[in-house]
Amino acid sequence: MGDFYTDYRITKELYSLGKDIILSEEYQRLKTYTQHGTTSVFEHSVSVAKYSLIFALSLEMRLGKKLDKKSIVRGALLHDYFLYDWHVDHSHGLHGFTHPKTALINADRDFELNDIERDIIKKHMFPLIPVPPVHLESAIVCMADKWCATCETFKMDISSYTVYRLNLRYDISHGLIKIGNNIDMPDTAGETQI
Ligand SMILES: [Fe+2]
Ligand SMILES: [Fe+2]
Repeated sequence: MGDFYTDYRITKELYSLGKDIILSEEYQRLKTYTQHGTTSVFEHSVSVAKYSLIFALSLEMRLGKKLDKKSIVRGALLHDYFLYDWHVDHSHGLHGFTHPKTALINADRDFELNDIERDIIKKHMFPLIPVPPVHLESAIVCMADKWCATCETFKMDISSYTVYRLNLRYDISHGLIKIGNNIDMPDTAGETQI
């Protein structure tokens, strides 16, 4: 898609729109659950947020219509926030049908959501769950989810740079990595340009 959508620029925007979620301990739990193949739910969700943002920016440019990119990123990050390993835990019914509702309940409990973010999470399995998205933002995440799932199934590397940068942000903001030579970083360390 050209130089405009460099991984650096997309990752920077993704982080600035979703950092409260990305840096939370609750959200970090997604790293412990597997989604497709060797991809964790965290990696998958970051990929979906990244491609949703790319689709949204592209549509904004082509349609001349402003989209709610913050809701897109936040909804995409939380669309699979079901918090269990669906490969081994079968107590939730048919995962494909039930996990959007479970993700929404968990996300509503742990974060402040708006109506667009709720619609994104609830409708991302359309058309398997035959209730269509109400917002264009939800349709974008629905498409990005399918694109990322396809890439992950075929083991294509679509987001390792973004995941690496977000992990670095988390480590710096939690004092696990220090920038510079034994310099104590201020509380805003996670905001520094890295
Ligand atoms: Fe899902
Ligand atoms: Fe997904």
